[in-house]
Amino acid sequence: MVLLKIATLAAVCVAAEQPDDLNLLQSSIQREAGKPVNPGMLGCDITGKLQFGVDVKDAMMLADPPKNKDKVPGKGKYAKALAKLDIKAVEKDLTDLMTANFDYWPNDADYNNYGPFFVRLAWHCSGPFRGTDGQGGCSGGRLRFEPERSWPDNTNLDKARTLLAPIKKKYGDGLSWGDLYTAAGSIAIQSMGGPTKPFCFGRMDDRDGKKSDILNEPCKDPDGKKLLNGQCVGPWGQSTVGLIYVNPEGPVDNDGNPRVDPSLSAIDIQDSFGRMGMNAMEIVALIGGGHAFGKVHGACADKGPGDAPATALASKSCIWSGTCGGDGKGANTVSSGFEGPWTNNPTKWDNDFFKGLLEEKWEKHKGPGGHWQWQTANRTSTRKTNIRLTSDMALVHNPVYKAMVEMFAKDQNTLDNAFAHAWQQLTEAGGTWSTARKCQEIPINMNGKFGKPGPKDWAAWFPRPASATQSLPTLTIPPHPQGN
Ligand code: HEM
Repeated sequence: MVLLKIATLAAVCVAAEQPDDLNLLQSSIQREAGKPVNPGMLGCDITGKLQFGVDVKDAMMLADPPKNKDKVPGKGKYAKALAKLDIKAVEKDLTDLMTANFDYWPNDADYNNYGPFFVRLAWHCSGPFRGTDGQGGCSGGRLRFEPERSWPDNTNLDKARTLLAPIKKKYGDGLSWGDLYTAAGSIAIQSMGGPTKPFCFGRMDDRDGKKSDILNEPCKDPDGKKLLNGQCVGPWGQSTVGLIYVNPEGPVDNDGNPRVDPSLSAIDIQDSFGRMGMNAMEIVALIGGGHAFGKVHGACADKGPGDAPATALASKSCIWSGTCGGDGKGANTVSSGFEGPWTNNPTKWDNDFFKGLLEEKWEKHKGPGGHWQWQTANRTSTRKTNIRLTSDMALVHNPVYKAMVEMFAKDQNTLDNAFAHAWQQLTEAGGTWSTARKCQEIPINMNGKFGKPGPKDWAAWFPRPASATQSLPTLTIPPHPQGN
């Protein structure tokens, strides 16, 4: 049914007059296709069509440019194209994509929904923003270039970018990659019943990933002494270069091994998210709100996900082709190496992540992917298949975070407001924006549940770190500005 709808849309799209930029885009694909380009991508035996009948291989090349650079419109050209962008049509195509299913990267084992995958994409594109010096962020669309595309934390996100490539191809210059990644995340949240604020288009794309090189430097202390990866300090935002924020299994000790200890993870989170510029409210709403959706992927141990783009290019192999179960897809996917969903409704927005944290006793064990994760101590609980990461458990091992977990578990509306606010802040931070930036309310499908406005001044509710390298101060919870 969805495929039918997509086919109809494709016909409309072909019938429409093609803008110059779309012709340019297409001729650049043909030019690439005529030459021996990235064998890591084109050498893969992956065939098939995606939305609007676009070949998977063309989509892969468009999504992850083999030459690690791409043509992007300049300021003026982008502003003009953005002014003409049909936001409603983009939203519709993205909404249809959520519940489509393509053999290239099937979502049957992911509850027949690409939504959670796109939420992760948007978060991983935006998360590298650091408050310490304003570097990073999704504006620039650099997730598709080195170094970010080869970060271990971004494993398999090339598939999410490829799924989006036909939409980029359809809308051309007016829809930047940065906007497309973040819009896909926001529409995904909406389509699963979650709250969002008006979405703004206007992130300007970069032509390569150079601006992210600074985020990829080995970490050092202020005196220039090299630090262990996993123990980074400011100006680095993340604790570990190659991860978005912190190690999910727990912070690493001096030997580089994870300490599977939620209390230590809470300190790690406080440091890292603080340097990224987030306050405690935003931290808890984002981690638990994000993990209302989807699952972690670690189908089998020891075999890993395969080659990152940079290695695949050099060794003429496929990108993250997967090594479990023969095809590395669907139920055989390995991304992080953890395995399982957080809730029993992974494609429905709710506060069960928080309720589960409080209502269950959790114990650590090694999952099928060979990493430490957490399961319910009561093996007959209705949540017995649910998981928590050590970094999720951290939220009940810091008194300030725990008070918020309790608040969000009790009051869905407060979570809705906090999450929508924090998501907007996350996805809009950093980068260069067009003067033609335009914002629009995306359809709210909360059935009237998300009606109550949140506090106007979130910054006053919880303090933000004042200076570049300062971590969050010790917090006490002030009264709720609305008194609820
Ligand atoms: C302490 C911070 C966080 C850590 C350590 C963390 C860790 C992880 C890990 C290990 C995965 C599994 C990836 C895979 O194997 O497919 C994952 C998935 C996911 N994360 Fe997070 N995460 C964090 C914060 C967030 C935030 C802030 C959001 C969004 C607001 C988010 C949204 C998601 C979603 C939706 C998935 C599921 C993706 C899917 O089903 O394909 N995470 N996260």
